[in-house]
Amino acid sequence: MKKVIIVVSFSVLVVSLFSLVKLRSTHAEYADLTLNRYAEQAGMPPVIFPHWFHRIRFKCKVCHEDIFIMRQGSNDINMGKIIQGEYCGKCHNGRIAWAPLYCDRCHSGASTIVIPQARGFLK
Ligand code: HEC
Ligand code: HEC
Ligand code: HEC
Repeated sequence: MKKVIIVVSFSVLVVSLFSLVKLRSTHAEYADLTLNRYAEQAGMPPVIFPHWFHRIRFKCKVCHEDIFIMRQGSNDINMGKIIQGEYCGKCHNGRIAWAPLYCDRCHSGASTIVIPQARGFLK
């Protein structure tokens, strides 16, 4: 009996470890993307785009390829365009999703840049 319990719990452990690995690898496929064509150069931390968060809310077709080309770094995005309602600004306009006023929500990448230093952008 003891042996059976040990075998069963061992296989449960193996199966759960395996599914953890599988889960993590599928998640990583379209995981968070860093957008940093201009941000750091312009004195802002890189943008972390939570792909998964958006994928579970919208069909791929909503964004690809009408709004975004499906290749990391291949979209020419800047704040002027976002504020005018292009790219992220198609939704982050205060109607579909919050307006692009909260810099740190998007510019959340690891960086030595501190956002208040970059507020000059808002002048
Ligand atoms: C809310 C918009 C949005 C939705 C919905 C979305 N994506 Fe994306 N996707 C993006 C953005 C933004 C990028 C990054 C583009 C860039 O870096 O210029 C991207 C990049 C990609 C990439 C390139 C990744 C790489 O490493 O080069 C693939 C592949 C992709 N998306 C597939 C999908 C698939 C499949 C779906 C649906 C299951 C989906 N996307 C849904 C916005 C979206
Ligand atoms: C198709 C619409 C759409 C587009 C395009 C879009 N978003 Fe979003 N985004 C949303 C919605 C909806 C939410 C959820 C808003 C809420 O919770 O109030 C959201 C939330 C977020 C969040 C917060 C995630 C969290 O964990 O709470 C970040 C960060 C974000 N978006 C960044 C971006 C960036 C960067 C882009 C452009 C590269 C972008 N989004 C483009 C619709 C969009
Ligand atoms: C909805 C997400 C989002 C929010 C909110 C946001 N940004 Fe951005 N920002 C982006 C994206 C995406 C880029 C392009 C990233 C890249 O490739 O460098 C960008 C690029 C930039 C750039 C470099 C390009 C340019 O336009 O000069 C600056 C500076 C910038 N953001 C400042 C800000 C400031 C300041 C705020 C707050 C008032 C802010 N951003 C809020 C998504 C956002």
